[in-house]
Amino acid sequence: MELIVARGREDLVKARRGGTVALVPTMGALHEGHRSLIRQARVRADQVVVSIFVNPLQFGPNEDFSRYPRTFDADLEVCREEEVDVVFHPAAEDMYGPDRQVSVSAGEMGRVVEGAYRPGHFDGVLTVVLKLFNLVQPDLAVFGQKDAQQLALIRRMVADLDLPIEILGAPTVREPDGLALSSRNRYLSADDRRVALALSRALRAGAAQLTPAEIRETARAVLDEAGPELDVDYLALVDPATFAEVSDDYEGLAVLAVAAKVGTTRLIDNVTVTLN
Ligand code: PAJ
Repeated sequence: MELIVARGREDLVKARRGGTVALVPTMGALHEGHRSLIRQARVRADQVVVSIFVNPLQFGPNEDFSRYPRTFDADLEVCREEEVDVVFHPAAEDMYGPDRQVSVSAGEMGRVVEGAYRPGHFDGVLTVVLKLFNLVQPDLAVFGQKDAQQLALIRRMVADLDLPIEILGAPTVREPDGLALSSRNRYLSADDRRVALALSRALRAGAAQLTPAEIRETARAVLDEAGPELDVDYLALVDPATFAEVSDDYEGLAVLAVAAKVGTTRLIDNVTVTLN
């Protein structure tokens, strides 16, 4: 089947076949992480829609919206290889008209951890994801655990706003040396890349410990070893559903999350740990 490129709601309606629809929202510059999400969607639904939209609403004034990689032709090739049915690629002016007023608030959960460093970011994410859900009307949507707080907030939005959509979380795809794949990795120099490995190394070392205090201390020590080239924003051990810091007597799954700048590139990563 020929890959359909849809630009707006009418195109999406025309492309609609019978059966279930899975949506994989992305900002393009597709890599193996995105491919793994597409494959999950492919096995679970009759029709797969990948959205490619660099959402201006989720970038802060001093963030990398203008230099975010845009590789649309290569992305289409990836989608063809992965047997995607429809690529939804709206224009920014069609998504956000000049009269727009109403948006989604991520609430307190959108202001902690990653949200504390990126004010308004998660409001922007949830607003665009809700719009994509309404435009594409999927039965299922797939998101990566790589952006764990984003995934948790999307689950929260689906529950709080009664959206009739199943959310599937997919595991983080990594390079053989541990670096989590990211569209932003292409901006890392060879030296940056070596420094960046401290993120996954710290998470692995932390996850091998038993108590919250040991996990935090061990991971922090590995980050510190990396020296001043690694500019850490946060290291947090949180409840995966709320992103509140866990206490020392916490039991169950927790997320150990880190964010740091290496040169001019900001990276995030996380792992899940079991506490009991
Ligand atoms: P983007 O960064 O393009 O990521 C699209 C999806 O791919 C997200 O669900 C993200 O968690 C997942 N992903 C990224 N790197 C991954 C990796 N190494 N392994 C597994 N999954 C990975 O996240 C966004 O775009 C945007 O915020 C979006 C949800 C599209 C809203 O604009």
